Amino acid sequence: MEDRFGHHISYLRVSITDRCNERCEYCMPHEEQDWLPREDVLSYEEILRVIRVGASLGISKVRITGGEPLTRRNVLWFFQQLKTIEGISDIGISTNGTLLGRRDENGVTTAQSLKNAGVRTVNISLDTLDAKAYEKTTGRNLFNEVMAGIDAAREAEFESIKLNTVLMRHRNEHELWDLIEFSRERNLLLRFIELMPVSTTEVLTSDNFLSAGEAKKLIEFRLGELTPRPDMRTNGPSSYFEIPNTGQMIGFIGAMTNLHFCESCNKLRLTCEGKLRPCLGSHLEFDMREVLRNEAMTDSDIARFFLHVVERKPEMHEFRENYQPGRRMIAIGG
Ligand code: 5AD
Ligand code: SF4
Repeated sequence: MEDRFGHHISYLRVSITDRCNERCEYCMPHEEQDWLPREDVLSYEEILRVIRVGASLGISKVRITGGEPLTRRNVLWFFQQLKTIEGISDIGISTNGTLLGRRDENGVTTAQSLKNAGVRTVNISLDTLDAKAYEKTTGRNLFNEVMAGIDAAREAEFESIKLNTVLMRHRNEHELWDLIEFSRERNLLLRFIELMPVSTTEVLTSDNFLSAGEAKKLIEFRLGELTPRPDMRTNGPSSYFEIPNTGQMIGFIGAMTNLHFCESCNKLRLTCEGKLRPCLGSHLEFDMREVLRNEAMTDSDIARFFLHVVERKPEMHEFRENYQPGRRMIAIGG
């Protein structure tokens, strides 16, 4: 699948739930909101059908997100089914990490079960190494659980484990070096993400926004000049740099300041209630659930729907125009 701007679409990011066991400031607005009613959320069978059709059109990589995907029941069964879909060669999960270390009745960690079910890459959110600051940012005192989750993921020997750190001034700008050290010791690929105005513009102010460029300068101040590594490409918009002496690689996801950010975009998103979104940073979304729940609609209709959405993929996101989706990140796919 290719859009009007030459983006090759091969990657589908799928939110399987809007529920989460944490309450990150930048992901959920402060006022209490209800979760979606269960019947509004796509069933596993519906999601698998979408992915199967997507795979027939060239989707080869799927990343499962939420909310927190590991809070959904029978999620391991879902991953086992996902693995059997022809054409899907790369399965990843984005998680807050708090549930990866949980053990089943046989003493097997969730991380290990995910690995056994065919998950290749795990992205874990970690904004701070300070338990107090962690609680402030996520609204939950689950720092020790994340640490156990990271250990469990390492023991499970995934192909890659990435740590995602959202940059926030006054919150973690003094910890960037520690996070780098933490990742180096554990052989994790650390990426710093610029705060985006996704759920509410409240959290993104000129006061707390820390750009990738500034973070890079802070890091260089102590560790020496970073060498750009444009050859290091993962399946995403991250730019990678090498740290002198140690050779450690770190990434920056500069959605707000990198003007070339969208050029290599290969992604579509499926929200948990079945909206297909061609871009996180655009209001455009299309109701796939309506097609899925209409018995007259066949897989060819779903395929046509995919192509229709790809046709409308924008050239780039609209975050810089102070975009506000009026929706919670948690419902789109954090
Ligand atoms: N800006 C930047 N990153 C965000 N994430 C969630 N909301 C935002 C936001 N408003 C991050 C999470 C996680 C990843 C999936 O998205 O921290 O690492
Ligand atoms: Fe949950 Fe992730 Fe959103 Fe935090 S960012 S509330 S962990 S979905």
